[in-house]
Amino acid sequence: FSYPIPANEPVLNYAPGSMERATLKRVLAELKKEEIDIPMYIGAEEVRTNNKRSLHPPHERAHTLGFFHFGDEQHVKQAIDAALKVKETWSNTSWETRAHIFLKAADLIATKYRAHMNGTTMLGQSKTAYQAEIDSACELIDFLRFNVYFLTEIYKQQPISSPGMHNRTEWRALEGFVLAVTPFNFTAIAGNLPASAAMCGNVVVWKPADSQVYAAQMFMRIMKEAGLPDGVINLVYVEGAVLGDVCFSHPDFAGVHFTGSTAVFNNMWKTIGQNINKYKGYPRIVGETGGKDFVVAHKTADVDVVVTALARGAFEYQGQKCSAASRAYLPSNLAEEIKHKLVAEVKTMKMGSVEDFTNFMGAVIDEKSFDKIKGYLDNIDGTKAKILVGGKCDKTTGYFVEPTIIETDDPLYATMCEEIFGPVLTIYTYDADKFEEALQFVDSTSPYALTGAIISQDRAAVELATQKLRHSAGNFYINDKPTGAVVGQQPFGGGRASGTNDKAGSMINLYRWLSARTIKETF
Ligand code: ALA
Repeated sequence: FSYPIPANEPVLNYAPGSMERATLKRVLAELKKEEIDIPMYIGAEEVRTNNKRSLHPPHERAHTLGFFHFGDEQHVKQAIDAALKVKETWSNTSWETRAHIFLKAADLIATKYRAHMNGTTMLGQSKTAYQAEIDSACELIDFLRFNVYFLTEIYKQQPISSPGMHNRTEWRALEGFVLAVTPFNFTAIAGNLPASAAMCGNVVVWKPADSQVYAAQMFMRIMKEAGLPDGVINLVYVEGAVLGDVCFSHPDFAGVHFTGSTAVFNNMWKTIGQNINKYKGYPRIVGETGGKDFVVAHKTADVDVVVTALARGAFEYQGQKCSAASRAYLPSNLAEEIKHKLVAEVKTMKMGSVEDFTNFMGAVIDEKSFDKIKGYLDNIDGTKAKILVGGKCDKTTGYFVEPTIIETDDPLYATMCEEIFGPVLTIYTYDADKFEEALQFVDSTSPYALTGAIISQDRAAVELATQKLRHSAGNFYINDKPTGAVVGQQPFGGGRASGTNDKAGSMINLYRWLSARTIKETF
């Protein structure tokens, strides 16, 4: 089986009067008309319980999209059993057959269900049409196609042989089941974590964030339509603690593919460590966690590039990308001009329902998130920081937080160092002649290392920043915003408290779901 390097899925722009906008609007109206009843998918069963939870668009709390059936310990056990039951058959299924299922799923999203993937992501997660398109259509399609390409290349890797013998590598799936725990903020990541492990021949128990179930079940149904056999991916909705208790004490636990908070991931490591004697092997622990992503401008920076990097990097999708710019270091010679232009830009940002295509921002994901962000804004320490623009929060109709810029003269100020996960950017101005000191602050004042950017027209400054910030970001951008990694172009992931840096959408990630067997045969 061979598969050529794919092209990235073209991004549709949903311009007024376009066919794609008309289709998306029709699907949004259909989705809103009927309350959906969402089961768990365990083996061949659609499982319903007496514990139904409702789904509401974050930007329109009063509307009910539908209900999902919440499970318990028994359902996790059933999902593991269903996975293990098909393990042998699935891992022995030819790569050609497996690959075709994922390629078909990509095509189904690209052609038949694009508006449904985008529509469920817009309504469930409050993404604008454009933000949904680059996520639940393009990035998800790219993950599926590129991973088929990467895995095909991995399978080709074989050792050399000598006369009288033949050596080969068998790229086995892991022994046991893989757990995928996925976040609300990217439908593409939510789909990719179970799919990439399953593609390698593994069987998976998948728990999405409660706030992402609406689009997650859509992807699950598409995978089934594409021919994924029952039991290969089992979709459950349960409390994280219940999931952990059952999965991390199971002898067949083979690994976890996680995206979410650093605190949850740290707890997973501890629990897995405590249970290490229960497992058949050493589980793979792969995670992408928090971020406190930076933009540092040099005194030679193009001001407009800085403004765009900050405006888009900090406020698209309400600052809820793990890659979002949330701290900026501005040189004293340009700071006033940058702030002036940036504040003017932020004042033009329209916020409201994402169903109105003229809005740039929707609502933040839920009440807990709203309260956390509001807490930071309500408690600004006036002696150290002030709000330059924004700052208002209103949850009357939806969880709306204005795009907010905080200015501080303390590089250690809380909003400069802690992850907020909302539309809040903090700015610190440094002495333009002390660039190295600024780089030192970037590197040392936050535990995270996911994404970051240097904006400069001076090559020596770019080189210096690239060197000094070697471990400050897993994705480092020169003269660009720190968001918007494209599969196949910028493999994505970070180190330090941001995760294991197993680059989503690359061979590095796929190797983690494979366990090579070396076979030598003498003649
Ligand atoms: N891949 C996403 C981005 O780079 C997280 O913004």
